[in-house]
Amino acid sequence: MTKNRIFSGIQPTGNLHLGNYLGAIRNWVQLQHDYECIFCIVDLHALTLPQDPLQLRHSTREVTAAYLAAGIDAEHCIIFNQSMVSAHAELAWLLGCLTPLGWLNRMTQFKEKAPKDRSNAGLGLYAYPVLMAADILAYKATHVPVGEDQKQHLELARDIAGAFNRRYEQDFFPLPEPQIFGPATRVMSLRDGMKKMSKSDTSDYSRINMTDDADAIALKIRRAKTDPEPLPDTLAALEERPEADNLVGIYAALAGESQEAALRRFAGQNFSTFKDALSELAVEVLGKVGGEMRRLMADPGHIDTVLRHGAERAAAISMPVLRAAQEITGLLRP
Ligand code: TYM
Repeated sequence: MTKNRIFSGIQPTGNLHLGNYLGAIRNWVQLQHDYECIFCIVDLHALTLPQDPLQLRHSTREVTAAYLAAGIDAEHCIIFNQSMVSAHAELAWLLGCLTPLGWLNRMTQFKEKAPKDRSNAGLGLYAYPVLMAADILAYKATHVPVGEDQKQHLELARDIAGAFNRRYEQDFFPLPEPQIFGPATRVMSLRDGMKKMSKSDTSDYSRINMTDDADAIALKIRRAKTDPEPLPDTLAALEERPEADNLVGIYAALAGESQEAALRRFAGQNFSTFKDALSELAVEVLGKVGGEMRRLMADPGHIDTVLRHGAERAAAISMPVLRAAQEITGLLRP
C-alpha cells in the first residue's frame, strides 16, 4: 500500500504573512512526521500575475527560508521550486485537455484576481487551478493541507482526477483529500474582519508579515480594528463579531489551543489587555521564525542547494507518474 503522501505549496509573491503561517506552514510542521511530505514553492503559479524577475527569485528563496525556519526538515521532507520539475507543466497540459471551461468558470479566486475587463485577464490566471491539480496529481498525493481559501481549487483537483480516471477507465490518480484544520483556517485582515489577510493587500496594517520585527507586530496588533465591547464568553457570541473572532482565532492558533480554550482565558476582559497578551505571544512565536528566516536568507547558496536536492527527489517521483499518464493517454514515446 502506498504511504499517505502530502503535497502542498505557497506562491512566492512576497510578503508571507500570518495567514500563510497559521493556515498552512505550521500545520505542515506537525504533519511532516506522519506522512511522506512534499512542499513546493510554486513559482510557475506566481507568473499568473506580473512579477519582477529579481523579486521573484528573492521571494522563491524567502519562502524556502520560511519553510526551513518554521521547522520543516529538508532531509525528511522534499522542498523544491515548481519550475525545476517539468512534470508539473507537462501534466497540466494533459489535464487541461480534460477540463471543461464550465468548471473553471466557477472558480471564485479567478473572479477576485482577474481585471474587470475579462478580455485582459491572462490565460495562465484562468488555467491556474489545472496547474494546481497537476502539482498534486503528479505525486499521486493523497492529502493536501491548505487554508480554507484553497478548498474550491482542491475540489476541482478531485474532479479532474476523476475525469482522467473515467476517460481512461482506470484508477490511476487517487482523489486528494483536503486537510483544512485548526483555529486559523481563514485568517482575516486586521483592518477588516470580512476580508481575508492577503499578500496583495495594499494596507500594511492589514497583515502581520512573517519577517516583521517585534515593534511592527506590536504596532499592527495595537491598531487592529476591534469593537468597544469586552470579549464575550461564548463562541456563538464571538462569531457575531468578526474582528474579535479573528483575533481570538489567531491567539488560539499561536498558542496551539482551541478557540474555545483561548476565549475562556479572556472572556469578559477588554481588548487592551487581550491585545497585549496577543502581541506578546505573536512576538514570541514569529520573532523566532523571522529571525531564523533572516539568518537563512544571508546564505542563498545553502537555500539553492536545498532546492536543487529537493527537485531531484521530486522529479524521481513525478516524472515516472507523468510518463505513465502519457502512456495511458496514448502519446508515443519510442
Ligand atoms: P497561497 O500562496 O495563496 O497561500 C499559501 C497557503 O496559505 C494559505 N492561506 C491562508 N490560510 C489562512 N488564512 C489566510 N488569510 C490565508 N491566506 C493564505 C492558503 O490556503 C495556502 O494553503 N494555489 C495555492 C498554491 C498552490 C498549491 C498547490 C497548494 C499551488 N499548487 C498544490 C496546495 C497544493 C495558493 O495560491 O496559495
